[in-house]
Amino acid sequence: MIVIGGSSSIDLAEEIAENLQCDCIRADTQTFPDGECYTRINAATLKDDDVVIVQNTYPDSNFIEMMLIEDAVKGLGAKSVTLVIPYFGYARQDRIFKPGEPESAKILSKCLAMNCDRVMTIDLHKEDTLKYFDRPYKDLKAAEAIADFFADKEVDMVFSPDIGAAGRAKDVGERLGVPYDHLEKTRLSGTEVRIKPANSDCTGKNVLIVDDMISTGGTIVTATRQLKEAGAKTVSVACTHGVFVNNALDRLEGSNIDGVYCANTLPSKVSKISIAKLIAKALREW
Ligand code: R5P
Repeated sequence: MIVIGGSSSIDLAEEIAENLQCDCIRADTQTFPDGECYTRINAATLKDDDVVIVQNTYPDSNFIEMMLIEDAVKGLGAKSVTLVIPYFGYARQDRIFKPGEPESAKILSKCLAMNCDRVMTIDLHKEDTLKYFDRPYKDLKAAEAIADFFADKEVDMVFSPDIGAAGRAKDVGERLGVPYDHLEKTRLSGTEVRIKPANSDCTGKNVLIVDDMISTGGTIVTATRQLKEAGAKTVSVACTHGVFVNNALDRLEGSNIDGVYCANTLPSKVSKISIAKLIAKALREW
């Protein structure tokens, strides 16, 4: 097996290769003066290799880079091509919400499927999206890595900020051996949400909120406020994908949240929960 790291995910790719004890090639990706993507895989041939490409499809330029790397790897004769997409961009537009919209997640999947044999994602917004690949797929859950990270950190309760992430709260809560619940969220706009008071008593508790992603931070700030008003002693937050648009991380760090931690699907200064071992194990066993 040989791992190829696209420019969005080189550190993670190297960590995965280290766990697999195999070589890692960094795609030589550059930007042409007109903004187009150039990439090259520095290998004479990949004829005898099962190749794993690690690259996000967000932002848009990374999607293009992934498509180009796939083609280059095919051109070098790879025996098989597995895509590891730590953060799958466009996953939230997985259906038509208003007439005239595209099914973005579907069309991206179909494009990516043209040159690969298998696909691995991590906490995809909706696992259903993977059916558009029409290839064997696996969606790994970061819950195990999140629970391991918090095992020695005195968590008394786990919450998800909405019902959509309730399964994640259950998974992490059960692994930590503590109670879990979900909050009720209504989205008001791209940046604002309303969250109802929690049903479970969190007075004096060290609470951990888990979600699949933090984008603007609106969800997490509102959920934390609600839990603190209900008497929580501390509120820490763990998510799989720290997207952090428009300085959202600074906003979170300046709020009353006691700690923000993310998996390393997207690099940031709080991406402290490594999922490399999880990915390597899943690749080894696949
Ligand atoms: C929504 O369904 C997701 O699970 C996240 O809760 C949401 O995308 C977070 O977005 P933001 O940080 O902008 O509130």
